Amino acid sequence: MKRPVAYVAGTGRGVPATVLTNHDFASRGIETTHDWIVERTGIHERRLAGEGESTCSMAADAARRAMEKAGVQAGDLDVIVLSTATPDRLLPATAVDLQAALGAQRAAAFDISAACSGWLYGITVAEGLIASGAAQTILVVGAEKMSAIVDWSDRATCVLFGDGAGAVVLKARDHTRRTDDPKHAKGILSTFMRSDGQLAELLWRPAGGATVPFTEAVLTDRSHFVKMAGREVFKHAVRSMSEAADRALDGARLTGADIDVMIPHQANVRIIEATAKHANIPMDKVYVNVDRFGNTSSASIGIALDEAVERGRVKEGSTVLLVAFGAGFTWASMVVRF
Ligand code: UT7
Repeated sequence: MKRPVAYVAGTGRGVPATVLTNHDFASRGIETTHDWIVERTGIHERRLAGEGESTCSMAADAARRAMEKAGVQAGDLDVIVLSTATPDRLLPATAVDLQAALGAQRAAAFDISAACSGWLYGITVAEGLIASGAAQTILVVGAEKMSAIVDWSDRATCVLFGDGAGAVVLKARDHTRRTDDPKHAKGILSTFMRSDGQLAELLWRPAGGATVPFTEAVLTDRSHFVKMAGREVFKHAVRSMSEAADRALDGARLTGADIDVMIPHQANVRIIEATAKHANIPMDKVYVNVDRFGNTSSASIGIALDEAVERGRVKEGSTVLLVAFGAGFTWASMVVRF
């Protein structure tokens, strides 16, 4: 029996207008330099959510743009999947706030927590729902207000992150099978997900369900911000993103030479370069915007994909490799033909 195939019908992004440059850290009392940040990460500036901007509002901006490009109305959505490490409330899911903001009354809505890989996890889950016939039109958003959870007194982490949201609308195409000739098939051609909770202590943030009893101290204690062993994370990121690239290419029966554009998670340009080199994909085929947005966690690939579509880098027929890595650790990848 032929299974429906999920394809990307529209992309969108929602990024705050406020820009924080590397030079602006001095006025915040952070001991760092533009040169240090650029040399170690490739980041020049990042966006910060302003007054009234939340994970949900950025998600809604990205979602509306993706829906408009896909020609989809709120009432057409069967499912809304929202990936975030910075939900506006822990209960209920921020996805239902997004559902209400969009007026998507028919949709089932839920959050996914897989850190920076969460958007690709979300697309993978959505692809499965479409392939099984359970849903035809799904909105997948990655949205993060990282500025709310980073420790602004820790120079090793606060310079890295930014806020924003990226979205896709996936739709069902009923006639093309995933197993068709890989050179001609369209839609999501392969997916790969992996995690390793043994390494959770290298990048984490405490929350309400931990073994510590809840007290007022939990609310005022700075210890609830993100903690990261940067150098260790870096090594694992290169290794795992390289593995993820291989697995998605194998799954689609393609090689790096078949890829028109690689869009990796935007954490650090050195991690991106190492992953591209491993996959035999030259840097002129890699979309990079970490210099302008920093690490927006699970929003980063969606923001980059939408820019790449808008700039004509990704077009009808393009074969695109998406690769992510994040806390957990989690890592994931997919090959998509547009
Ligand atoms: O989204 C996925 C998860 N996150 C990542 O992928 C991040 C992965 N890690 C990284 O990108 C890098 O490890 C960092 C950019 C975070 C750090 O670069 P590094 O080359 O690994 O530097 P380091 O942490 O080993 O620190 C080197 C030095 C230290 O000083 P000493 O001990 O050598 O005197 C730090 O105190 O740089 C110092 N340092 C800074 N100096 C100026 C750390 N942060 C800063 C800063 N400005 N912002």
